[in-house]
Amino acid sequence: MDASAAGLSRIGLAGLAVMGQNLALNIADKGFPISVYNRTTSKVDETLERAKHEGDLPLTGHYSPRDFVLSIQRPRSVVILVKAGSPVDQTISALSEYMESGDTIIDGGNEWYENTERRMREVADKGILYLGMGVSGGEEGARNGPSLMPGGSYQAYLNVEDIVKKVAAQVEDGPCVTYIGEGGSGNFVKMVHNGIEYGDMQLISEAYDVLKNVGGLSNSELADIFAEWNRGELESFLIEITADIFKVQDEHGNGELVDKILDKTGMKGTGKWTVQQAAELSVAAPTIAASLDCRYLSGLKEEREVAAAVLKEAGMQDVFGAAMPNIDKKRLIDDVRQALYASKICSYAQGMNLLRAKSVEQSWNLNFGELARIWKGGCIIRAVFLDRIKKAYQRNPQLASLIVDPDFAKEMVQRQAAWRRVVGLAIQAGISTPGMCASLAYFDTYRRARLPANLVQAQRDLFGAHTYERIDRPGAFHTEWTKLARQGKTGMGVLH
Ligand SMILES: *[C@@H]1O[C@H](CO)[C@@H](O)[C@H](O)[C@H]1NC(C)=O
Repeated sequence: MDASAAGLSRIGLAGLAVMGQNLALNIADKGFPISVYNRTTSKVDETLERAKHEGDLPLTGHYSPRDFVLSIQRPRSVVILVKAGSPVDQTISALSEYMESGDTIIDGGNEWYENTERRMREVADKGILYLGMGVSGGEEGARNGPSLMPGGSYQAYLNVEDIVKKVAAQVEDGPCVTYIGEGGSGNFVKMVHNGIEYGDMQLISEAYDVLKNVGGLSNSELADIFAEWNRGELESFLIEITADIFKVQDEHGNGELVDKILDKTGMKGTGKWTVQQAAELSVAAPTIAASLDCRYLSGLKEEREVAAAVLKEAGMQDVFGAAMPNIDKKRLIDDVRQALYASKICSYAQGMNLLRAKSVEQSWNLNFGELARIWKGGCIIRAVFLDRIKKAYQRNPQLASLIVDPDFAKEMVQRQAAWRRVVGLAIQAGISTPGMCASLAYFDTYRRARLPANLVQAQRDLFGAHTYERIDRPGAFHTEWTKLARQGKTGMGVLH
């Protein structure tokens, strides 16, 4: 008697909040019989009800960890989708009691990668395999096709490969899933994906701010422009939903809902981790960091209101009032589009370089072309542009930065005049564009063969005898700067 004849499920899923329910229904919808479990029994009933309504999907509900685990065919694969941190440990301990050697646990949450590596070692004592799998796409993606980033045991991946390939979003070059690498690499890649997402959202909000407050554009004009942008090089999920947002009317009053939303951003931590990791690995990620800083500053709503009042009292004026007079709207719109695109390239370059640094540190051997490919569908940062990133890494897997890929390099150069105009206008108007500025400064720093770091080195050598290198001969040198300067002598450093 085969497993399915015995009524066993192909896979199990524990944790039936929004993401869990939708992913379970997606798996069942693709024809894989699935068992579901949640401590709160009403969650199980709710999911069963949905499975029935959404086409009599092959899904069975279980009310105890034991029944749940034993309802799955061996080797068992169990996905858990609960809040990151201790709920994951609790769920693992409840389920692993009934699991056996060769079974697999797949954590689909936004978990810190080192927690995944710890759990991987803990369950290994029982012979249980482990995957930390990033899942992106929100509620809709989980139900209809997310981008999946599984990392950890390769055998565990093989156990569920047929399932994840069908469940993931499908794009013309395949399903949006690939085996990421060992250890916590799947969680780490998802974390950086979210950091990039922070950057994208910040850059889009700056484009909106400039068009609205420098260009004087209305919400309905903004809706049209974003819809138009979504037909070109910026085509992406975030641009598309932004166009929709501007169209929604406020049901509690006049005008559009977007204007009634409190300007205070929430966050769950993956952006902060991305910036912390960038610092740990000595990788510059200024655009992503700027987006995080903006979320912090946005949180200080009351302080900002006080600051606005204090500075107004001190004589601060809106430089151009509602909008700049005599602005060439058409030109501004076109410039902002180009500034957004160029800024985005720099932000992705930072994210990819962070991934590369971690891959080297951990020997994960990440395939950047593949990462760009599996982000083309399903996930929040999905965009036509990712196909170009994929191709850039396919042309040169050792690419130092997206900025020096010949195609991207050409695009940046073509857009730099518009980019500088937008940032310049925003600065004049007193409208902060920290993401665009960070990207532009990143570009201008990275592309310059000589930086003023020579002066910093001289200062370090003067006050701390940290030594410096010379451009014209090898070695580490130290100079008695103060003595020589006060004696008016020339400085020939002493070789160290
Ligand atoms: C079950 O549901 C509750 C409430 O939605 C949630 O807090 C809990 O983590 C879920 N998961 C499990 C495995 O019980």
